[in-house]
Amino acid sequence: MTELMTFPSDFLWGAATAAYQIEGAWNADGKGESIWDRFSHTPGKIDNGDTGDVACDHYHRYAEDIALMRQLGLKAYRFSISWPRVIPARQGAVNPAGLDFYDRLVDGLLAADIQPFVTLYHWDLPQALQDGGGWGNRDVCGYFADYAATVVRRLGDRVRYWVTLNEPAVSAFAGHRDGGHPPGLRDEKLALQAAHHLLVAHGLAVQAIRATQSEPHAEVGIVLDMWPVEPATDSPQDRAMAEQSWQKGAGWFLSPLLRAHYPPEALRACSPNAPVVQPGDLALIAQWLDFLGVNFYSRNLVRNAETISPVPGSEYTDMGWEVHAPAFQRLLARLKRKYPIPPLYITENGAAFAEAVSPDGSVHDARRLVYLRDHLIQARLAMDDGVDLRGYFVWSLLDNFEWTCGYSKRFGLIHVDYATQRRIVKDSAKWYAQVIARNRVDQPTME
Ligand code: FCB
Repeated sequence: MTELMTFPSDFLWGAATAAYQIEGAWNADGKGESIWDRFSHTPGKIDNGDTGDVACDHYHRYAEDIALMRQLGLKAYRFSISWPRVIPARQGAVNPAGLDFYDRLVDGLLAADIQPFVTLYHWDLPQALQDGGGWGNRDVCGYFADYAATVVRRLGDRVRYWVTLNEPAVSAFAGHRDGGHPPGLRDEKLALQAAHHLLVAHGLAVQAIRATQSEPHAEVGIVLDMWPVEPATDSPQDRAMAEQSWQKGAGWFLSPLLRAHYPPEALRACSPNAPVVQPGDLALIAQWLDFLGVNFYSRNLVRNAETISPVPGSEYTDMGWEVHAPAFQRLLARLKRKYPIPPLYITENGAAFAEAVSPDGSVHDARRLVYLRDHLIQARLAMDDGVDLRGYFVWSLLDNFEWTCGYSKRFGLIHVDYATQRRIVKDSAKWYAQVIARNRVDQPTME
């Protein structure tokens, strides 16, 4: 027996990717070096010595990939633009061939009746800007707004959905505090300053996009990673720990964006490393948003100030991330309860499982299918509780370069054989195509 969970008729069903993870063509047609090119070319940084030099070769195979999206019936495709493909060097000169690529991609998508959902920054800063101080240097905020305007001037007559930044927390903290992502630094103060500059850059870019775009229904938003820390018990200690982690994580970005201030306790706690904030910054950051993008994968469970891992009885993905769909609904409910949120899109949700190609030539990725189904059910339940959710994007359309894990982790709805670049539509993708076609997901019910 199944119960049918229908979605609104204009629900935006999609899949997501990011430029560095799929495009390849790292130095083709005038593209400049990005911090991810530099990092992946540095020995020891990426598992197995992998790089994004070729990746899924999407730069050359985008037409084939659009045909696959069409086959799945996607209503929208979230991709990112490589900043150094558009503006390769510090001087700001535009690389016409770079813009031409995205122009062709957008036209191809629209011809297939797929809405482009464009992220302007998914972590691949031009190396030339990093050489000048990167996100630690406030000048980069203005350069980002100029770059945003350049892209929107070219594509803004056809693109309706604009995302300024993907997961600024990862750019700031993985890059500048934890050292695992480029520029590979370990400096808490610099990380907090970089996080602030990313938010200022977001604010300037929102203004630049709105001043430049000509699509009459354009929507501008930002994408945040939300990885809730949940208390294992009701004890005041566990609850306080969960709250503190939230304020240092997603809350650190949500409060300035939606309430024009940093979370007061977290701000006090990070002194003397608190960022330098100039007069007017918070108003700039807190401009109204047309939507908020939420990336959700998993949660952490804490007890007595420690993360419980593994959680007894839980399944884990190949990333070592717990599969726990009910946390998704709780997260969405919390956002609604605690913040003045605009409409939401789930801009990433998915799981890495390395199902092999079967002798029958298919990829039977049952675990991914169940992960996606269970999360969609939780999203639908949240909508029943009044969460204004407008769309959902699976991470990812294709298996791709998973940052420091290289090609060892497979998140795709579509399998990629990197040696031949052959694509295989996995079982989860066939199932997702049905969900989209019927506009509903089947909820298993207890007998
Ligand atoms: C997110 C990133 C995305 C992808 C997934 C697995 O944090 O935005 O590029 O790597 O994780």
